[in-house]
Amino acid sequence: MARPVLKTKLCDMLDIDYPILSAGMGPTLIGENTGAPVELVVAVSEAGGLGVLGGSGFTVEELRSAIREIKAQTDKPFGVDLLLPKKIDLGGPMGGKQVDELPLSQLLKLLPKPHLDWVNKIKTDLGLPDVEVMVRMNSTTMRPQESVKVCIEERVPLFCAGLGNPGFMVAEAHANGMKVLGITGNAKNARRMAESGIDLLVAQGHEGGGHTGRIGTMALLPAAIDAAQPVPVLAAGGIGDGRGVAAALAMGCIGVWVGTRFLATNEGGALPVNKQRIISSTDEDTRVSTAYTGKTLRASYNKFHDLWAESGLAPLPFPTQVMISSALLAGFIEAKKDDYVGGLAGQVSGIIHDIKPARTVLEEMVAETVDILARQLPERVRLK
Ligand SMILES: Cc1cc2nc3c(=O)[nH]c(=O)nc-3n(C[C@H](O)[C@H](O)[C@H](O)COP(=O)(O)O)c2cc1C
Repeated sequence: MARPVLKTKLCDMLDIDYPILSAGMGPTLIGENTGAPVELVVAVSEAGGLGVLGGSGFTVEELRSAIREIKAQTDKPFGVDLLLPKKIDLGGPMGGKQVDELPLSQLLKLLPKPHLDWVNKIKTDLGLPDVEVMVRMNSTTMRPQESVKVCIEERVPLFCAGLGNPGFMVAEAHANGMKVLGITGNAKNARRMAESGIDLLVAQGHEGGGHTGRIGTMALLPAAIDAAQPVPVLAAGGIGDGRGVAAALAMGCIGVWVGTRFLATNEGGALPVNKQRIISSTDEDTRVSTAYTGKTLRASYNKFHDLWAESGLAPLPFPTQVMISSALLAGFIEAKKDDYVGGLAGQVSGIIHDIKPARTVLEEMVAETVDILARQLPERVRLK
């Protein structure tokens, strides 16, 4: 059977068949996993969409080798997503020098006393073991300048900034034949990003997994499209099938950026426990909390959310809060307290019921979108 056609301006801009990107997704829990690994990127790009590597937890060297691995496995365009925090302030634990790793126990001592006392109290109350974790001080998030340089040297077709404004690197990226994408959760930031010269903007609604803003996708998209003009917008947050894609296109988006649905695939990088949590979730089973990173972040509901809410503590700035969540999550996992563990995931979890290959997810999404636009809408909507 002939492959369906579903093309927008995004397909021309990125040289892809379908206007569907798998979102950049970084570590889904502590550890070295990434939500959007090489396998997912290759599967989505090979299927005609565009896969985006979640590069935020990698070391700078790992980033380069992951990019090379993608290039070895596909000649299709792909993207790399990094977090570019404005400022990284861990209270000077490195004394001005660059170190690659530090033991978490050492970093914890730098936390404000109320936060450290709280971590220790939870460990005692729940009988959590002391688990030593080495914290990467050489991750791409800790070394954004070096990491951007790697992406430019490797001429990554699409550079995506999940946090921060990538405007500063647009000229150099363009000179190397790359496109640059920014992500926003509100109209004000959409305008600011568009003015900085980026090529594409993702507007992610409150429904989305991972870091998320306050505006729902339905209200955000038209506002972001108006604010970002003439920069084209992709929709994100709550898109799990062709219905979401068709709605986004109807609202004026030129494509979609899909996270949770691609996480829950064979190639998605989430731990098995987190994939299972997604497919057993209803639409009510995620929560937004500052517990994980200090920024509002949506994850599958678990008892860590309640502990943090009850603590009454103010979140520490990103990425310092990650020390707290890492220390406790390492203990929860070691003590097999699965009720306290849940990975990043969006409200769309409620319509995801199975783990399947990423290619199948993409093909089904395309087929449903085409069917809605070509058959269902003309049947359901009378215009005269
Ligand atoms: C497990 C997970 C990890 C994520 N990590 C990142 C990240 O590192 N960088 C980023 O830009 N966005 C990240 N996000 C957000 C996604 O890029 C995307 O915007 C979001 O998943 C879209 O909403 P959806 O989950 O409803 O599809 C993450 C999302 C999830 C679910």
